[in-house]
Amino acid sequence: MTKPQDADPTARRKDAHLDLCLRPEVEPEGARTLLDEVHLIHNALPELAEPELDLSARFLGKPLRAPLLILGMTGGTPRGGELNRALAAIAERLGVAFGLGSQRAMLERPSARDTYSVREVAPTVPVLGNIGIAQAIALGPGRVRDLMESIGADGLALHLNAAQEMAQPEGDRDFRGALEAIARLADVLGPKLVVKETGCGISPATCARLVERGVSCVDLSGAGGTSWVSVEILRGGRPGAQPFATWGIPTAAAVLGARRRVGGAPTLIASGGIRDGLQAAKALALGADLVGVALPALRAHEDGGSEGAQASLMAIVDGLRMALLLTGCRTPAQLRDVPRVMGPDLARWLEVL
Ligand SMILES: Cc1cc2nc3c(=O)[nH]c(=O)nc-3n(C[C@H](O)[C@H](O)[C@H](O)COP(=O)(O)O)c2cc1C
Repeated sequence: MTKPQDADPTARRKDAHLDLCLRPEVEPEGARTLLDEVHLIHNALPELAEPELDLSARFLGKPLRAPLLILGMTGGTPRGGELNRALAAIAERLGVAFGLGSQRAMLERPSARDTYSVREVAPTVPVLGNIGIAQAIALGPGRVRDLMESIGADGLALHLNAAQEMAQPEGDRDFRGALEAIARLADVLGPKLVVKETGCGISPATCARLVERGVSCVDLSGAGGTSWVSVEILRGGRPGAQPFATWGIPTAAAVLGARRRVGGAPTLIASGGIRDGLQAAKALALGADLVGVALPALRAHEDGGSEGAQASLMAIVDGLRMALLLTGCRTPAQLRDVPRVMGPDLARWLEVL
């Protein structure tokens, strides 16, 4: 039965998340991406002119003007729908990819589909649907594909969020059967499937298990940016949650470790705490194909509307252009060969990963 929106706990939680993510506590002190421990070596003679730079990339079979993805955040409420349309329109203008938030609200209330319908404003760029692993297990691969297709998305981001669920009083507690379900979904969706974390990172070993089971694109979404444990603590998380606010694999370590482990073929997205173009360049240098941002787009939209959000994303692309030129790279792929200095904490993570 269709429930009115004000009685729908999933939709209410999604709007509460938008408000809570505006608070500084969701980026807790002490959480680090370790991108600050990566220094790309300056090239004083780059022998390049800025117009020669080529930031173009491909994702889900479509061209991008820059290797950037606005990550999935919302949907299911009028406010979420408005934000989705605003950010998707920006993605179309900038020629970058766009992700919708979890479509769980749409499963529970089919009339919420409109709040995920962004094709009118983003007809050409890659658009990703989104669902959590628990819902994907319950639905089975055929219905997950229907969910993606029902909004005209080019692919589907399947999110893993064990830490958030564990911190949430009403969260899921049973994580069995996930890898098998992912393998079945990879059979059905093929290269349209993206498996992502939500700010705790995916270790190289886990990334390799996903790739072995047929996953060809992984968003590593490491620690150092939005902390979903902190969000749940603000909502009144379970008693033991506090020490886990900074839990997770730093984004830099996740990216470098995963690329080393899985080789060149799988598409790797770096996200979690990417806040500027230089950080984006470092993540690409460590082995990512694309970088993703969530919180900065939300906050910039809250502060300055569509114009503000667009300016903040353009600043990231602009900083990436600067980093390319100053390292003598014409393309993001060339960043992988730039010599770099890495700090001791990152080196220690990599000894183990
Ligand atoms: C307000 C908000 C809502 C989010 N909702 C979802 C979601 O529905 N599905 C999902 O896969 N990730 C969701 N995320 C996680 C992001 O996609 C991303 O993995 C994480 O926030 C790390 O990136 P960041 O540090 O740039 O925010 C959300 C993030 C934010 C800030």
